[in-house]
Amino acid sequence: MHQPPSTSRRTFLQESACSLAAWPWAGLLHGTVTADSSTTQDPTPVKVIASENGLDATRHAYKLLLQGADTLDAAVAAVTLVEDDPNDTSVGYGGLPNEDGVVELDAAVMHGPTHRAGAVAALRNIRHAAQVARLVMEQTDHQLLVGEGALRFAIAQGFKEENLLTEKARKIWLYWRQTRGPSDDWLPPPLDKVDPEVRQYFERHTGTVHVACLNAAGEVSCVTSTSGLAFKIAGRVGDSPIVGAGLYADGQVGSCGSTGRGEANLAGLGSFLAVELMRGGASPLEAGLEVLRRVVKQTPARLLDEEGRPRFDLKYFLLAKDGRHAGVSMWLPARYAVTDANGSRLEEAAGLYHRPPKQ
Ligand code: GLY
Repeated sequence: MHQPPSTSRRTFLQESACSLAAWPWAGLLHGTVTADSSTTQDPTPVKVIASENGLDATRHAYKLLLQGADTLDAAVAAVTLVEDDPNDTSVGYGGLPNEDGVVELDAAVMHGPTHRAGAVAALRNIRHAAQVARLVMEQTDHQLLVGEGALRFAIAQGFKEENLLTEKARKIWLYWRQTRGPSDDWLPPPLDKVDPEVRQYFERHTGTVHVACLNAAGEVSCVTSTSGLAFKIAGRVGDSPIVGAGLYADGQVGSCGSTGRGEANLAGLGSFLAVELMRGGASPLEAGLEVLRRVVKQTPARLLDEEGRPRFDLKYFLLAKDGRHAGVSMWLPARYAVTDANGSRLEEAAGLYHRPPKQ
């Protein structure tokens, strides 16, 4: 979510409770948050993690994994649930549209055991973008299809076209359009004519769902799906369908996926970097925090507040093949979804900065 944080609060810095001395990247980690809950190996590693909006999805994927489903089958099935949810305005059906009022979806899948991936970008009129991405992986010699070509491919595969813009999303878009600025011919509606539900969307959003699955054999796959930045320029593609940015899975190491401001994640290929840091010995938590720090260093001044903190949010969800996991977020508080032998829950993410409490 684009959420310019208050600039009046001091950065929240708390020395890590865990000892990082033995870890080769330790020098890069001074001055950050939280105990590392991702260092203990899980004896029963079947596990699904997701962005916070994927809690039910993790439960569904976990059941499928226990029934022996392939990790990518389970992750796609889980994301399909979120794509079907009209109340999630960041993904699939009901997602917020581009500046023209048209919903455009991005999605990618990656199968860790075979290191194969597929993706679609700027896909219109088809709600199950992750399923289409999976077919790009399985039934083409390509990895990414976009726009009209992605749509024609989906239709050829039997997907049905539909209008993805729900009434709720249309009203939110219309209000944004009417209040965009004084230099066009749209006039703001009287406030008493604005649906109260619309008012909570006054800030632009970049919600997304990411789901990662680990089975008992230590195989990992993951999926990311989104309607992208609300009211984006038509054709804008974020990080979600870009392998290495919006997601990455490596059969030897684990996976990572992202939500938040895609433009901040694209240049550094944050998901690839996180997995490579884990390969080098970092825990999921250590790797995720290091990627966030690099993003901060690479952020242009126009996107930083007067304390040098990004005016946007970005999150990573990391899952190691031995069951360790972490969610990290530029801004806290933040949570992520986990389902494993201990049940389904939202866990606190670690991060770099604290938002001020709501007044
Ligand atoms: N991370 C989603 C997007 O920027 O489109």
